[in-house]
Amino acid sequence: MEKKYHIVTYGCQMNVHESEKIAGILFKMGYRETKETEDADIIVFNTCCIRENAENHAFGNIGALKKLKKRKPDLIVAVGGCMTQEKGKTEVLKRKFPFIDIMFGTLNLEELQELIELKQREKKRVVRIREKEGEIVEGDEPLRTSYPNAWVNIMYGCNNFCSYCIVPYVRGRERSRKPENILAEVKKLVAEGYKEITLLGQNVDSYGSDGSTGMTFAELLDSVASVEGNFRLRFMTSHPKDFNEEVVKVMAKHRKICRLVHLPVQSGSDKILKAMNRRYTCGQYLEEVKLLRSYFPEAELTTDIIVGFPGETEEDYLATEKLVREANFASAFTFVYSPRTGTKAASMPDQIPESVQKDRIMRLVELVNSLTRKKSEKYLGKTVEILCEDYDEKKGLYLGRDEFGRMGYFKSETNRIGDFVNLKITQANGISLFGETAEKENKEI
Ligand code: 5AD
Ligand code: SF4
Repeated sequence: MEKKYHIVTYGCQMNVHESEKIAGILFKMGYRETKETEDADIIVFNTCCIRENAENHAFGNIGALKKLKKRKPDLIVAVGGCMTQEKGKTEVLKRKFPFIDIMFGTLNLEELQELIELKQREKKRVVRIREKEGEIVEGDEPLRTSYPNAWVNIMYGCNNFCSYCIVPYVRGRERSRKPENILAEVKKLVAEGYKEITLLGQNVDSYGSDGSTGMTFAELLDSVASVEGNFRLRFMTSHPKDFNEEVVKVMAKHRKICRLVHLPVQSGSDKILKAMNRRYTCGQYLEEVKLLRSYFPEAELTTDIIVGFPGETEEDYLATEKLVREANFASAFTFVYSPRTGTKAASMPDQIPESVQKDRIMRLVELVNSLTRKKSEKYLGKTVEILCEDYDEKKGLYLGRDEFGRMGYFKSETNRIGDFVNLKITQANGISLFGETAEKENKEI
């Protein structure tokens, strides 16, 4: 009988893509996907540790497997991702969940096959976490799950050490993939019919900054956008201290590149930005917003914001609200500050009480939603091009996104997944748009 795998993913896009790589390894070993944990022969948890609730979530789900594992002793339970990479965490996991069979980290994901075989051969728990990042391993084929969208790593790790963030500790120092490998991957994806490529890195602007690639991010973006074919190009994540006009100029050169930039601001208070070690001021941030909009008045920005960072006063919080209005974000990921052991901010004085944090996040979410809603209304009656990416069973509608990431729903008798579709917007409902397909379709970008 066919062997089955089930992967549970927590966290960001980087993790979602890494789960595709894990799936690729398991597929090559003969496993096929199952959506049911009950049917699985191997269950892999790809964890995240960026905030405490992501960790708690994983702890809960792993714990819930205890019974199944008792019933199916041959089931392999593997835990990987950022959490196992955290100092001391494998010990905690071993203690809490003695039934875990395999632990691996973000820095040795490519060893998974070897670890599974080792476990099967020796019949005992295998824990292998790499302490330090090694050379980038090329050649593993991810099993992509998001057609027509595809993610392509351009770099790994982070050197920034924002004072709240655990990423540099669990993903190691920055290293960039060779441009020829990135280009080959993009060309292959386009040839296979993928219509939206997102270049991924914790801080894409520092691509090649160690001199190892002979190219800056702007130059890489230029060459990727020059690949022939009908596809959209996005990149994520930019850092305000590094985002620059060279990148904007490349955007202007290629209509393929979406006029949407994800530029995490984190706070609207210079005092807090300094304590966060972000190395820019609100003034500098807003200059970048201005720069982008001077090239593309229609450009949209999305962002990440943390509230309740140590020392954040009501005045600092209100400064964040002010910046959010000024930057006029299309949407924002908003987070309550979560202390992470080992980071600088975790030991800062003046940690903010939970009740204050909760109050601030609620107000901020309301503000961000109101901006998003206002932007939605502007869509009414307009025709936008969306890339159809899925079918919503419940709604009985196809859905996709426009260049600015706005979700649009429509009815169709035929399968439109993977098509660029022009939608005349008839209804704008908070964050979602509804429309009718308009004449011109499959427009070339
Ligand atoms: N607490 C809350 N949010 C955090 N982020 C990173 N670390 C933390 C933390 N300790 C947020 C930042 C980052 C996003 C990916 O997660 O806003 O941009
Ligand atoms: Fe974390 Fe800052 Fe690196 Fe982003 S840039 S991963 S927030 S340390």
